[in-house]
Amino acid sequence: MSEKPVVVVTRRLPDAVEDRLRRDYDPRLNPDDRLFAAETLLALCEGADAILPCHTEKLSAKVIAALPDTVRVIANFSVGVDHVDLAAARDRGIVVTNTPDVLSDATAEIAMMCMLGAARRASEGEHLVRSAEWRDWSPAFMVGIQVTGKRLGIVGMGRVGQVVARRARGFDMVVHYHNRHRLDRELEAGAIFHADLDDMLPRCDVLSLNCPATPETAGLLNAERIARLPDGAIVINTARGALVDDDALIAALRTGRLFAAGLDVYNNEPDIDPRYRELTNAFLLPHIGSATRETRDAMGFRALDNLDAFFAGREPRDRVA
Ligand code: DGY
Repeated sequence: MSEKPVVVVTRRLPDAVEDRLRRDYDPRLNPDDRLFAAETLLALCEGADAILPCHTEKLSAKVIAALPDTVRVIANFSVGVDHVDLAAARDRGIVVTNTPDVLSDATAEIAMMCMLGAARRASEGEHLVRSAEWRDWSPAFMVGIQVTGKRLGIVGMGRVGQVVARRARGFDMVVHYHNRHRLDRELEAGAIFHADLDDMLPRCDVLSLNCPATPETAGLLNAERIARLPDGAIVINTARGALVDDDALIAALRTGRLFAAGLDVYNNEPDIDPRYRELTNAFLLPHIGSATRETRDAMGFRALDNLDAFFAGREPRDRVA
């Protein structure tokens, strides 16, 4: 029998990460990259020491309660941990880790892409070219909004939010932010802090959501808050769909109250609210914020570093529960 810890790996991981897993652990891999139902996952966990899941596996209180006693650590391949019931894990003495830092650049790139895609009507433009429906050019054709020099409001000035701010400064944007705590001057780099989100909203030509999904932030962007944004504002979400009240956002996009939205994340992925698909002013991506070769490798190695620390009896650096 192997003496290496047994790790259930819920999704196909980059080759280099799976190689290291095979070297240092006894991994139960998922070469077909199937999405496991809770029962399948629980069956796979029999006799396992650890789980290495993604945000696609919902580790609810019920699932965590049903895990075998052998499972002592959940090392997520994600920075977001809203798919894990942390209180339930704590109750069972299961350590939980995530993968911060390593995906901030990649996610900020996608935030900028969402911003530009929404402001410059990239979905409509691409459709015109691909469908051979592009007929003409005129000064009135495909007119969007220039983001250069505009005001950007960032909700959640953590690691990703700070990189978005830096990238936005490259577009001469004036950065405002709302965060639980004010950053120190150096990190703030001239960004304007708003202790109250509602005070910031009227100052945002573009609003970027970059905070975690928690019970406190659920539905944060609702009809009242959208009403506080300037007419023709743009909303970007690269954090979690749960931050948005879909009815309110869709209504504001339909009426043109908002100019556009750039979304990488949604409620109920991948079965998103179908009304988004009909909106020409929505630039839509399939949750690819961290999807670069560099970042996916780094996320896997970071999850393994956390497992290594745990099994060596050290405190994992990214422990969240
Ligand atoms: C994250 O790491 O939270 C990304 O959204 C992918 O899960």
